[in-house]
Amino acid sequence: MQESISSLAAEVAAADVSSAAALDQFRLLYLGRKGRLADLFDQLKTVPNEQKRAVGQQLNGLKQQAQARFDEAQAALEAATANQPADATFDYTLPTVPNALGTRHPLMLVREQMLRIFARIGFAVAEGPEIEDDWHNFTALNFPENHPARDMQDTFFVEPAPGAEVAQPHLLRTHTSTVQVRVMENEPLPIRRVMPGRVYRNEAISARAHMLFHQIEGLYIDENVSFADLKQTIYYFVREMFGEDINIRFRPSYFPFTEPSAEIDITCLICKGAGCNICKGSGWVEIGGSGMVDPNVLENCGIDSEKYTGYAWGMGIERITMLKYQIKDLRLFTENDVRFLRQFEAL
Ligand code: DAH
Repeated sequence: MQESISSLAAEVAAADVSSAAALDQFRLLYLGRKGRLADLFDQLKTVPNEQKRAVGQQLNGLKQQAQARFDEAQAALEAATANQPADATFDYTLPTVPNALGTRHPLMLVREQMLRIFARIGFAVAEGPEIEDDWHNFTALNFPENHPARDMQDTFFVEPAPGAEVAQPHLLRTHTSTVQVRVMENEPLPIRRVMPGRVYRNEAISARAHMLFHQIEGLYIDENVSFADLKQTIYYFVREMFGEDINIRFRPSYFPFTEPSAEIDITCLICKGAGCNICKGSGWVEIGGSGMVDPNVLENCGIDSEKYTGYAWGMGIERITMLKYQIKDLRLFTENDVRFLRQFEAL
């Protein structure tokens, strides 16, 4: 018995406790209910009575020694793993999972492309607020009070804050022509500006219409500006944007803020002019409105209409993007489906 105790004591002192697995083994082997120490305690009953006390004390001493070794090793192991990553078996040399970068939105890409084309012929960018007043959206632009032309664009009006005194109705701008007025009111002549931005109209959302879309407005005011200048600017833009073999036509139209006014049509890029359901069989698609700034508008903005003339245009960025990339449903722009958006990654 004596011998068993001292050899077990030596074993306990020498046992491997350097890892979690070894420690577990140690616990089962020496401290467990079916372990070696428990065996020796069982044998205590075979020890002659007069020795029982001494042997019992030795066994208890060994048990404490084993427990102390276990506690110490466990504490050391916990301290060591606390400073280590949770999964020490993880292979840090593995290649990383690439972090998926977002891509630029097609509308923003085309917006930039358009602005760059106009920048090359001297048009600098101006911006204005999306919540506008009646003056900048309608009145200054020669929309007479109660004139049906105000209904050409279904307007979202903005309720004033309770108790607020407002001199005129406020609204979400229905076109970027509002920025023309702000530029003419505030900037020195001559003016050469492009004005990109969001516009809002109270329309049901479909493949062809949305209540939120984007326009780029253009404005040129100087002495002796003519319709021929407007045409050359638009010709230049269309060639740069869509290529040389595209035809352009100016179709007489009406806008309160221009006289004469013209809608700008280009060859339908889907059917190359043969006629399809996008161009409703005509072979032409409209990309915007334009005209010579009405003298009333110049005067409303404090510009001498005897001395100065100018031209303006407004184009939808969605329309240009759809034509350029053959996109047939406007809703794709706002659904944020990455399978759609990723296609513009490389542009
Ligand atoms: N503001 C017009 C619209 O949203 C587009 C437009 C037409 C703008 C003629 C112009 C212009 O500057 O001269 O329908």
